Amino acid sequence: MNAQHPTRSKWPRRDVLAASAVLLAGGAVGSINRSAGATGEAAPRPAATPLPWPWTTLDPLEAGRRAYRFYKDKGGCGTGSFLSILSLLKEEVGHPWTTLPDMMMAHAASGFGGHGTLCGALAGASTIINMVTFGEERDKILQNNQIVDRLFWWYAEQEFPTDRFDDISPIPDQIRVKAMSPLCHTSVSKWALAAGANINTAEKIERCAKVVGEVAYTVTLALNEFFKGEWVAPAWKPSEEISHCVMCHGPSTATKKAPRWNQQGHMECLMCHRDHTT
Ligand code: HEC
Ligand code: HEC
Repeated sequence: MNAQHPTRSKWPRRDVLAASAVLLAGGAVGSINRSAGATGEAAPRPAATPLPWPWTTLDPLEAGRRAYRFYKDKGGCGTGSFLSILSLLKEEVGHPWTTLPDMMMAHAASGFGGHGTLCGALAGASTIINMVTFGEERDKILQNNQIVDRLFWWYAEQEFPTDRFDDISPIPDQIRVKAMSPLCHTSVSKWALAAGANINTAEKIERCAKVVGEVAYTVTLALNEFFKGEWVAPAWKPSEEISHCVMCHGPSTATKKAPRWNQQGHMECLMCHRDHTT
């Protein structure tokens, strides 16, 4: 995700003092919001800690290994990617990360509730990305969405599963297939067909555990570099095959306005549509 980006000069870290000032203000608001109990002495409810929450340099391989294990032990890709990074932040940073429930992203498993939409590994990891980069601006562009967009593009291009976790896997050297899109559906189904494995087999579970590990590893590495000022998420550019589609159908960009911006998104059009212009 990071190798292709030019190194930028140092960017200032966000102001930690400003964040704690907001925290204090939040406490004051909380005291006004006392629930009027019968005694009038109900304890003040703490206000939610505003974003962004603090990041610290984490070990990407440890995040990846935890994600691989949590996928199998805790149940699913959303929990695997989210809890791997969250558990490290709880240990290394503490509050406010300690206020988040471990199973917050459990519903993201199998593309949310088994629906096969967004890969849960991307869902869990992108929740953390938003929480630490919310409001972060580089080159006048908000980075939370840009990093998530970049992550989804990276994922679609990967041939999964990688061999990074083969040393802890009972099924190493699995067949690798390009995910094609950030959708659980294409990522898993294309692999299952190529591997001749059903969705409920040990092989498929192993494959997805490694995918979750790779996503957690990559996101942790990217966030480490982002907060060291070594990386800025580049703006999305359509691939050569679809740049003419985007010129007509959108999305419009800062430099190019689509005549009819009537499609949403940055996915590869030709995965699902024929080219009606040829
Ligand atoms: C020169 C402009 C232009 C280009 C380039 C273009 N389209 Fe279109 N496309 C149109 C117009 C005009 C329509 C008719 C519907 C409308 O009025 O928006 C259309 C219709 C469609 C439709 C709905 C009807 C159908 O044929 O299924 C899809 C889907 C679509 N385009 C996808 C694509 C994709 C994918 C590409 C690139 C491979 C592409 N378009 C390239 C202008 C364009
Ligand atoms: C994951 C599959 C998928 C991808 C990727 C995808 N589309 Fe679509 N798109 C669809 C489906 C399904 C519809 C609804 C088609 C229908 O109603 O017949 C649709 C609808 C559209 C429509 C509205 C016209 C219509 O027939 O309803 C346009 C225009 C369109 N897509 C363009 C694009 C372009 C341009 C891209 C790439 C930037 C793209 N799509 C990527 C699946 C996809």
